[in-house]
Amino acid sequence: MSEHTGGRDIAPAEGRLGVLLVGLGAVSTTVIAGVEAVRRGLSKPIGSITQMNTIRLGKRTDSRTPLVKDFVPLADLDDIVFGAWDPIPDDAYESARHCGVLRPEDLEPIADFMKSIKPMTAAFDKAYVKKLDGTNVKTGANKMELAEQLREDIRRFKEENGCDRLVIVWAASTEIFLTPGPVHDTVESLEQAMRDNHEAIAPSMLYAWAALQEGVPFANGAPNLTVDLPAMLELAKRNGVPICGKDFKTGQTLIKTILAPGLKARMLGLAGWFSTNILGNRDGEVLDDPESFKTKEESKLGVLEHILQPDMYPDLYGDMYHKVRINYYPPRGDNKEGWDNIDIFGWMGYPMQIKIDFLCRDSILAAPIVLDLALFLDLSRRAGLHGVQEWLSFYFKSPQTTPGLYPEHDVFIQHWKLKNTLRWLMGEEQITHLGVDYEE
Ligand SMILES: NC(=O)c1ccc[n+]([C@@H]2O[C@H](COP(=O)([O-])OP(=O)(O)OC[C@H]3O[C@@H](n4cnc5c(N)ncnc54)[C@H](O)[C@@H]3O)[C@@H](O)[C@H]2O)c1
Repeated sequence: MSEHTGGRDIAPAEGRLGVLLVGLGAVSTTVIAGVEAVRRGLSKPIGSITQMNTIRLGKRTDSRTPLVKDFVPLADLDDIVFGAWDPIPDDAYESARHCGVLRPEDLEPIADFMKSIKPMTAAFDKAYVKKLDGTNVKTGANKMELAEQLREDIRRFKEENGCDRLVIVWAASTEIFLTPGPVHDTVESLEQAMRDNHEAIAPSMLYAWAALQEGVPFANGAPNLTVDLPAMLELAKRNGVPICGKDFKTGQTLIKTILAPGLKARMLGLAGWFSTNILGNRDGEVLDDPESFKTKEESKLGVLEHILQPDMYPDLYGDMYHKVRINYYPPRGDNKEGWDNIDIFGWMGYPMQIKIDFLCRDSILAAPIVLDLALFLDLSRRAGLHGVQEWLSFYFKSPQTTPGLYPEHDVFIQHWKLKNTLRWLMGEEQITHLGVDYEE
């Protein structure tokens, strides 16, 4: 029924883990502050699977439910060292103050620590994030030179901070919409395009390339292509590096992927789902640019289609209308409001409506995702896994998949997949919830 795999050889999580964040804005400063607050015993890592979730092993009657962090060998929070790049020179304290996610009473006790994290100069180009100006930027003759400078940053950070291992997470602004083209097909064409300053090479790709060349796992928290390109996959495989993306699953999409599987499980129809958001942080301002919004919109729209499978259920979902709007509204700051109007129908086609008004805090939902991704990607690397880490789909709005596979969006399937992967890594039985073995 369920098989025992014997598990993988996993190198121990010894020494320091450097977590390099691209972008030192709302999400990054919130994760850094939260980890430090937890380390000082001032807070709890709420929302983090690695820190708070347990995992059932064996039969229900076995009573084996360790914490995930006691089951798989993960880096300890005390062994994490943070670094970042940002075109805005503010240190993590100033940036967190500016972003306004955390209250002064949570920020002041760790102000000394936050002030010690200063961003390295960024590989930044305003052409890809129109609403942003930055002074803390690298210069070079071409994009390849900038990427080589990023590689030097990575090596220097590792050396100066005595890190044994590194991971990189993109938590920088959403870039303009780009589609994969011929230059992204192979490592050679990508590198040639970097030398040629080709417009299809966005700054995020330079970070991804630099990470993969340095053997550093890379997670993409924004909807940009970044590592979701054939050339990057080839490089990840060649250098044995795990990658994952795209776009952290927080807020409205999280709720959507919790609710939609339930409606489908009950075979209830969906006529339409209208989602609108108001938010006033820098992310909202960047998304006010139609080209950055398009990148985000594509990422948000795919979700329902994949969960509800209209092709398979034309009577229920064949005519559904899905619309997503994001509006920049400064008074709200980071505290987004996401409204959903959902028109469903039931027995004999009778219509019903569901209204959700989520008074959400985006960065509060994103911070534990960044922590978990950093720890799990480091685990993947030590377990010898490379290429796309689909088991981390749980954390993303548009999960990157191995080419040819469709993504899993249903948050419950994703959660199950994640935990079964942990069981598989450790040679524990898969949990199928079949249940007949209790009666035998
Ligand atoms: N907060 C969430 O819930 C959430 C969810 C999903 C995705 N995201 C994505 O995560 C990213 C970060 O969100 P945020 O709220 O922290 O945004 P933010 O605007 O507060 O921070 C982004 C930071 O990235 C910097 N940046 C831009 N281009 C850069 C570059 N080339 N190199 C280095 N730094 C660069 C900006 O200067 C800014 O400080 C955005 O792309 C956002 O869409 C956030």
